[in-house]
Amino acid sequence: MNAPFKQHLIDPEICIRCYTCEMTCPVEAIEHDDNNVVVNADLCNFCMACIPVCPTGSIDEWRVVETREAAYSLGDQYGWSELPEQADIAAPDGAGEDDPIAALLAEAHKGAGGKARVPASASKPTVNLYTLGTPVEAVVQGNYRLTDDPDHDVRHIILDFQGKPFPFLEGQSLGIIPPGLDAKGQPHLPRLYSVSSPRDGERPGYHNVSLTVKREEGGVCSTFLCDLQKGDTVQVTGPFGATFLMPTDPDARLLMICTGTGSAPMRAFTMARQRNVGAKPGGMVMFFGARTPGSLPYFGPLNKVPDDLLDKHLVYSRLPGHEKEYVQDRMRAEEDLVAEMLQDPRTHIFICGLRGMEDGVDRAFTNIAESFGQQWTALRDTLREEGRYHVETY
Ligand code: A2P
Repeated sequence: MNAPFKQHLIDPEICIRCYTCEMTCPVEAIEHDDNNVVVNADLCNFCMACIPVCPTGSIDEWRVVETREAAYSLGDQYGWSELPEQADIAAPDGAGEDDPIAALLAEAHKGAGGKARVPASASKPTVNLYTLGTPVEAVVQGNYRLTDDPDHDVRHIILDFQGKPFPFLEGQSLGIIPPGLDAKGQPHLPRLYSVSSPRDGERPGYHNVSLTVKREEGGVCSTFLCDLQKGDTVQVTGPFGATFLMPTDPDARLLMICTGTGSAPMRAFTMARQRNVGAKPGGMVMFFGARTPGSLPYFGPLNKVPDDLLDKHLVYSRLPGHEKEYVQDRMRAEEDLVAEMLQDPRTHIFICGLRGMEDGVDRAFTNIAESFGQQWTALRDTLREEGRYHVETY
């Protein structure tokens, strides 16, 4: 048929190659090569199952093409390092006032969440330097246990790239390819981990990276990583992620909300600010949820971070003799602080950790925004639009 066609695409600049969309798509319309993850226009039925599972929003891209036959092919998409602009497409004869292109795009976005945007002052990230086909080898410099709880093994793993470039920014992730084959006899796909060190390394100038990894029962990659010894090697892809990035403006304020290993990027932000900005009371506020102090990653080092650098609210859900408390409960208890930050145009919000916390945190923000007469959904849209609202949950 000779009608404009709305095509579903993935933004290769923002995609972190976690392959969750591919695993979620019920009609196998999403596939990948060593370079990109792409959508087969012949198979995609716009069911939108892939939209909410994408951690970056890179999946929520649409272009209208002249006809279905003119859709971008898989070959086109595999070759892209960025998305093509929306081409000008003439409305079919007799379309009149109703613009079919605009209608198609509006329909395509119905129900999809708002798009993440980059903080205005963030540095430009490098993405996809090392791919599935061309990973870089890193050597393990150290593997340290971060938790006391015997049932909760979280590791701080330091990797060194032996002089090879691995330019990354705080908030970015990298992929680890576990050795061996999967159940189908195929090489494993990389698993994504947030980098927990600042861009210049665990120690300034060392240019190594650290990861914060929780041992998951039966987890192929987490078991591999948690068992690594000093001197072992790993295959790394990335870096990935172009929106969950730290603002470099020293006056920016960070409101960081995390659970468990979601603290990884927050550690990177805190160390980077400590090195580059120093203490600015109220500049960084953290709500960090864990089961107990013994299972809270970086409990010891975090407690040594001065309060005027980082205002810490450590919250426990399984502390004997205490009621369960989640980050959203503490945010409510600290309503005045959160309300003041929400009204400050310098505030950037970063949320990282369990997917389950998103709703609770959203509800807490709703109540807190009401306390100063604003509607959270509208405020959130503005924050997102201004690159000041970032969520990475799993
Ligand atoms: P719990 O599992 O006790 O209900 P970790 O990954 O280290 O277990 O930490 C995750 C923390 O997040 C735990 O304290 C966990 O509590 C808590 N948590 C679980 N579900 C939610 C939720 N819906 N909102 C906020 N925090 C949650």
